[in-house]
Amino acid sequence: MDAWNKFPQVPIGAVYLRRTGEKTVEALNVVCPHAGGFVDYVPDKNCFICPLHNSKFALDGQISDPKSPAARAMDALEVEIRDGAIWVKFQNFQSGPAEKIPA
Ligand code: FES
Repeated sequence: MDAWNKFPQVPIGAVYLRRTGEKTVEALNVVCPHAGGFVDYVPDKNCFICPLHNSKFALDGQISDPKSPAARAMDALEVEIRDGAIWVKFQNFQSGPAEKIPA
């Protein structure tokens, strides 16, 4: 059965948030689309790098190095701003394929 449920605050995952305009924000799942590593933000290069197999992503999540083993960009998530609060539809996707397939 499908239903709205409320759970106590529990960690379900992590996201990178990036302001893209006065009232717009983008969210990226921190999990690497290649094989599930945790992608790091690297301030001195101003990009994302996965420490497992060295995939590199630009700030918008797109693959920035063609030698990256990831087959797709970082997984963007739906975001809404409601009364000044950022709401992210958190979702994980399968690691590996070039398409985003919900896990
Ligand atoms: S898991 Fe990120 S590059 Fe392989």
